[in-house]
Amino acid sequence: MSTFKAPKGTYDLIPPDSATYLAVREAIAAPLRNSGYGYIETPGFENVELFARGVGESTDIVTKEMYAFETKGGDRLALRPEGTASVLRAALEANLHKAGNLPVKLWYSGSYYRYERPQKGRYRHFSQVGAEAIGAEDPALDAELIILADQAYRSLGLRNFRILLNSLGDQECRPVYRTALQDFLRGLDLDEDTLRRSEINPLRVLDDKRDAVQKQLVGAPLLRDYLCDACKTYHEEVRELITAAGVSFEDDPKLVRGLDYYTRTTFEFVHDGLGSQSAVGGGGRYDGLSEMIGGPALPSVGWALGVDRTVLALEAEGVELSLPASTSVFAVPLGEEARRVLFGKVTELRKAGVAADFSFGGKGLKGAMKNANRSGARYTIVAGERDLAEGVVQLKDMESGEQMAIGVNEVVAELESRLG
Ligand code: HAM
Repeated sequence: MSTFKAPKGTYDLIPPDSATYLAVREAIAAPLRNSGYGYIETPGFENVELFARGVGESTDIVTKEMYAFETKGGDRLALRPEGTASVLRAALEANLHKAGNLPVKLWYSGSYYRYERPQKGRYRHFSQVGAEAIGAEDPALDAELIILADQAYRSLGLRNFRILLNSLGDQECRPVYRTALQDFLRGLDLDEDTLRRSEINPLRVLDDKRDAVQKQLVGAPLLRDYLCDACKTYHEEVRELITAAGVSFEDDPKLVRGLDYYTRTTFEFVHDGLGSQSAVGGGGRYDGLSEMIGGPALPSVGWALGVDRTVLALEAEGVELSLPASTSVFAVPLGEEARRVLFGKVTELRKAGVAADFSFGGKGLKGAMKNANRSGARYTIVAGERDLAEGVVQLKDMESGEQMAIGVNEVVAELESRLG
């Protein structure tokens, strides 16, 4: 061990577990790639104002948990706490919305940073795969995204997750509700902090985890009862489309999200095996965000799924992904001459697209075979001086244990055809 450790709230992805993370990313991305979403990558940091917009409501993610700093050049930057604002900023900057092809559909995969109190499933550095559909107001688009996330989780073999769905209304109906909720909250016996929160972001109070607060919230006005007709119709259509797709969900009139830009459709994917950090993914519509960051009106919708928590959910359900062994052929040379010959064969195999590895470091047969076993390779090729003198190598099938001599010049073609 060195004197250094991974910083608090972070962890390293190392083999063999890292293979599961890659597979999860891939499984979430696959349905998006298949549905017209193009890949986008943005910087790990942005101007702090992109996230701290200073208008409207504020959230813990932005006010308390952001890694914000000033550079030597005096720029005020923040490590990105989430992807939506960055992706929208990049799309606007590249004028993607002017190419006459709305919605602009983008997907991304990367690291995000939040200065949170670390615990299982909650890290300061974590990983998301996300999707954003920018510039269209269409319930089918909201439905598409929910269906694709459901498909991604199912393709991984996850079953014990639930989809919580809500509508947060729009700039017409939400302010009316907000006022009604504030009036209600003012009549409760709440601590200073919570009272302050109810002035800044009253919807967030509904999300308070404390029993004493939840008890008082029974009877709080629900946004559902304040939605305007346009929002109601929109929400009803989203619900019908996902139902028709066979995706089940629960209406959760108290669902509030941790970011301030949501309008209308909001949803969360929760997994019941994860304890308090149960949200494996979430998202919704953000019709006003573009204007908040100085762009034109571009109604949009998206989600982000947490890779770390999805992996934990797989563990909780006992799902083992069937990951193909990363090495198909392992070469074991015995002696100098064999080293040169087999190293050449490994290079040839790799060029032919066969995953091959080699026993490095001049090990003896026993140690080398241990490496071969550990690699998960289906075949090993072993050669010593006597084999080479006869122009052969030993090809061993690690599954059946069968071994045969095969011509040095035939072994690559033979392995290619066996591995098909
Ligand atoms: P979010 O709900 O803040 O949404 O994060 C999405 C997911 O990222 C969470 O459900 C969770 O799985 C994972 N996540 C968040 N924080 C942590 C953490 N500290 N440790 C581990 N995992 C975490 C967003 O970020 C929005 N940008 C989603 C979105 C896209 N809305 C519209 N478009």
